[in-house]
Formats: sequence, C-alpha cells, structure tokens
Amino acid sequence: MKQFDFAMIGLGVMGRNLLLNMADNGFAVVGFDKDLEKTIALETAATDGTHVKGVNELSEMVALLSIPRKIIMLVPAGKPVDDVLASLQPLLHDGDIVIDGGNSHYTDTIRRIELAKTYGFHFMGMGISGGEQGARFGPSIMPGGDVVAYKNVQPVLEAIAAKATSGEPCVAYMGNGAAGHYVKMVHNGIEYAIMQILAEVYAILKKGKGLSNEQLHELFLEWNEGELQSYLIEITAAIFKQKDTETNADLVDLILDVAGSKGTGKWTSQSAMDLGTAIPVIDAAVTMRSISTLKEERVQAALLYKNNVTEKTVDTDIAIFKEQMFGALYSAIIVCYAQGLAMLQKASTELAMQIPLQDAVKVWREGCIIRSAMLELFYTVCNDKPSITNILLDERIAAIVNKQVVGLRQVVVSATQSGIPAMALSNALNYFDAFVSAQLPLNLTQAQRDFFGAHTYKRIDKEGIFHSIWNG
Ligand code: 6PG
Repeated sequence: MKQFDFAMIGLGVMGRNLLLNMADNGFAVVGFDKDLEKTIALETAATDGTHVKGVNELSEMVALLSIPRKIIMLVPAGKPVDDVLASLQPLLHDGDIVIDGGNSHYTDTIRRIELAKTYGFHFMGMGISGGEQGARFGPSIMPGGDVVAYKNVQPVLEAIAAKATSGEPCVAYMGNGAAGHYVKMVHNGIEYAIMQILAEVYAILKKGKGLSNEQLHELFLEWNEGELQSYLIEITAAIFKQKDTETNADLVDLILDVAGSKGTGKWTSQSAMDLGTAIPVIDAAVTMRSISTLKEERVQAALLYKNNVTEKTVDTDIAIFKEQMFGALYSAIIVCYAQGLAMLQKASTELAMQIPLQDAVKVWREGCIIRSAMLELFYTVCNDKPSITNILLDERIAAIVNKQVVGLRQVVVSATQSGIPAMALSNALNYFDAFVSAQLPLNLTQAQRDFFGAHTYKRIDKEGIFHSIWNG
C-alpha cells in the first residue's frame, strides 16, 4: 500500500489548493472530506503524474500516512477544529503532528496545544495567507509553537511557500505557543486597515473629484507601477475595470455597501486593547465595517440630516490632488504596518511569544494579501534593528514619511471639508501627529485623575510620586 507524506482535513477551496500545491512539489498527499464530491474534485484537479488521493473516512486517511503522521486541517475556526481534534485523537500515535492552518483565535490554539500534550501528539497553529491562488501556487506561511513539529514539516512548507525576489521561501518560525496564529491575526488587522484606506481614497476621488471607474482604474494601475506596488492596489485597479456579465454595468457599482467579516480584524483590535498598544487605523477599519452594516439606519439618517450631508467637490487642481493622494496613501499605509508591527513587538514580550519581527516581515513579502514593495525596506529595517519598537523611529522610514505625510494632511482636510468620511486616513494622521509629539496634553488628564481620585502623578522637575490637595 502506498505511504503518503501528508494529509489534509477539509477539502474546501483552500484545503484542496494547498494539497495540490504539495503534490506538484513532489509529495504524495491524501485529502479527507466527508463530501464525496469534494474528494472527486481533488483527484480530478490533480496534475498528471502526481500522487493525490481523496478519501471519505478519517481512519482510512490516517492508515495511509507514513509515521510520524503529518496532518493539516483547513476547516472553519471554532467548534469544527475541536470536533476534528476529538475525532482524530483515538486514531493517532505519540509523535504524530497535527497542524491547524485556519484562522483560529490564538487563545483557542493555546488551549489546544495543552490538550494535544495530554493526547501525546504535536499540535501546531499555522497562519496561511494568499487566498485561493496563493494556496495553489505559493502562499505566505506563518507557523509557530512546537519546534519538533516545525522542523519535521519545514521542507514541505518551504517547498510550497511563495518565494521572495531573493528566492527565499515566505515561511519562517514565528515564535512560541500560538505565535503563528497571532502573527496571522495581526496580518489580517493590517489587511483590514489597508482595505479601508483604499475604500476612503476611492470615495474621495469619486465623490470629491468626480473620477470615473475608468479613471480610477488608470490611476491605481499607475500607482501599482511604483513605490506603492502591492497586491491590494493591483486588485483594486482590476476591480474598477470589471463589468457585470448580466448588465454590462461596472460591477463595483452594483455591489451593496455592507462589508462582511469573519472576526480576525476585531480580534486584532481586542488584543491590542488588552496589550495597551495603539492601532487606531485597524480599529477604524473594524468600526467602518460595523457602520456599513447599518444600511437601513444610514438611509434613514441621510434623509433626516440632509442639510448636513454636504458632499462637496474638492477644489484642488486634479494633478495636484493626485499627488497629494499618492502621499496620503503612501504615508497612511506605512502607518498601518507600523501599528501592526509595534503590536507584534509588544505581544512578543507581553505574551511571551518571542516573535522574530524581521521574520514576520520576511514572510509577508510575497504570497500574502498584504504583500507590497514597501516590505523590502521594512525587512531591512527590522533586520538591522530586530528589537525596534516602532518602525516610524527608523530614519529611513522617517525620510519617506516626512515627505509624504504632507499629502495625507491635505487629503484629510479636503475630505473633512467635503463631508466624505475618512476615518482610517484621519486616524493614521492623528496617530502620526500624536506619536511625533514630544509633549501631549495628558498632563491635564493626570491632574484631573489626581483631583477626583487621588490617583497621583509624576512631575517633570523632580523624581517621585505626588498627590496634591486641589482647590475644589
Ligand atoms: C488571507 C486572508 C484570509 C481572510 C479573508 C477574509 O490572508 O488569505 O486574510 O485569511 O480569511 O481575508 O477575512 P474577512 O472575512 O474577515 O474579511
């Protein structure tokens, strides 16, 4: 009987594509799904000459694997992961390796690592990014936790991962415990933030300057040629060009303005609050998705406040405005990455994950949704200064932001004057302005806290902790 190298549980699009990717790289793979159609689809899609088998019984899948068994699951986060683990547990031996490649909450992963120890097998949480195409032809992979498990599967992961321009595979060990899922969660937070920034840029150019979808397509294409080159800008350019097959209208205009979400952005904000790390652009993105769901209320409010809903055009000359917008995008996107990376650095110590920041950036350079040309610079910066708390503190990054943030300020002013909501862009600017303020007015906050609650304060002119009797 043929011995297989690797198994996949869950043959949805991601699971199937990842397995086919492994097979194309010379590994013999078996996929399990209860659904017969899915196992047939797997075998049908396999490249000629590769070893791919689909089975509908978990025990059959386990029996086909070489020892130690290497099993990856790509099932929806939450209960399905626990269910799979419960079914697998009686079938596994000591030393077998189980990997959760979905978007699980990192605290679930911590719990499951402990559970797997009692069962005697290795359990690893691993983030995978890149959507369908990434899974099939090269995703960015973020494994963490169990080092024995990682070493065992490293050759497979390196073979299937996307490759950076340097040829390095976009996979690396992300740190202790649930670090793999934690890094993927923050990746998704950054993904939400950049997507919200792009949505705001779209609204400002469309409503404020009257750009057509064709003009937006051209502009995004142009941006994608230079420093802003990135997957999200590339697909945005393509979206403006897409026609609806039924009506031949621009498809983007027919799509309801209510955004879905599966939770990873919200988890990023929640975890940042717990850590005391500021990620206001990611928070704005999560908030805007929430506001988008209030469609009926928004329609009602638009009528009730019609005198206040004054979406005016932006007066600035279009050529100048495009330049300002370039600067706004450039600096705001840098701020998104800066916030996400600062959060990872904090989590690394506070949650004892020991996340190598430079490796997180390294694996994001290709394959994932937030891949972009800018990451090469961030990689250099993090390699030079692995314990940097915020990449905005690097002089090479400061040189870019100092130049480009002028555009962000002008665009935020224009959007505000025109009544076009731009929460992520404004938050990026406000975060920047606060971060570069040697003096903030929070001395007043400290005085108030001491006034009403005797919470004490520190002074700038002498050491110690002070409390005053305030003149109430
Ligand atoms: C990726 C993506 C992916 C995520 C989707 C949907 O890296 O390939 O991050 O993992 O699930 O982007 O996320 P939302 O449904 O929450 O927008």
